[in-house]
Amino acid sequence: MNISLKSKNALVGGSSKGIGAAIAQQLALSGASVTIMARSENRLKELVNEMDTSLGQKHQYLVVDFSSFDKYKEVISSYFEHNTVDILINNTQGPEGGGALEKNVEDYQQAFDLLFKSVVYTTELALKHMQENKWGRIINIASISVKEPLNYLALSNTIRAAVVTWAKSLAYDVAKDGITVNSTLTGYFDTDRIAQLNSKKAEKLGISPDKVRVNMEEQVPMKRIGDPKEYGYLVAFLASEQAAFITGTNIPIDGGLLKSL
Ligand SMILES: NC(=O)c1ccc[n+]([C@@H]2O[C@H](COP(=O)([O-])OP(=O)(O)OC[C@H]3O[C@@H](n4cnc5c(N)ncnc54)[C@H](OP(=O)(O)O)[C@@H]3O)[C@@H](O)[C@H]2O)c1
Repeated sequence: MNISLKSKNALVGGSSKGIGAAIAQQLALSGASVTIMARSENRLKELVNEMDTSLGQKHQYLVVDFSSFDKYKEVISSYFEHNTVDILINNTQGPEGGGALEKNVEDYQQAFDLLFKSVVYTTELALKHMQENKWGRIINIASISVKEPLNYLALSNTIRAAVVTWAKSLAYDVAKDGITVNSTLTGYFDTDRIAQLNSKKAEKLGISPDKVRVNMEEQVPMKRIGDPKEYGYLVAFLASEQAAFITGTNIPIDGGLLKSL
């Protein structure tokens, strides 16, 4: 099976590094023209220059901040005035860690704006062209926490569950238009985000971040955490023609970590 995303335009959230960057790179390697977005312009510029262009792909970047919804809305709306998107990867910043008792109602509202509002708004804009074109792929980068909530991540547990439930409802509504909507449930991946969370956890538990990482690897049946490149392969498949009959799913990518069915 050869995956070709030639002549497709992709928009990838949170993609200057980590999982989003690996997805953007794989979509580009598969032939898509990719727009990446994040806050740090320097890193975005570097990545745009590194991405594959051997099939005539044209890549670009957008400087955005998901944590400021009104500003985000302005930038993304103006992007959609001049661009169409066939493949939308909804990948946002993970919210602050912390248990349920450490969070108040404002924290939940902030996490909702960050993880839910930006995703729904971007998707609404992307859907117009997808529905006219009778083809589209929407992939939400979620977490295994939607099936098994993780300690220390009350905000993420709560709001990501809303995202996948919305995605399931949307998948039903747009299936007739040739648009698929799927969510991927992220296990542990080797990125800056996981390093930051491990440092905080280490401080709290009074152990070294290395020890936290070893404990984390121990929990995974494969005894390792994921390489973001492996994430790119899954998303490129879901974005492809070959995945046309797969919609409304929540697919774990976690080395076997989830215990639930
Ligand atoms: N890694 C894991 O093991 C894991 C597990 C479960 C869930 N996840 C989730 O998967 C997603 C990606 O995680 P990751 O590990 O790839 O994180 P990461 O390495 O920290 O990368 C996050 C990306 O998002 C961008 N970003 C961060 N805050 C932003 C903001 N306010 N506005 C716009 N862009 C922003 C970052 O670039 P800038 O800093 O330049 O903006 C970067 O490109 C997150 O939602 C995370 O919670 C990750």
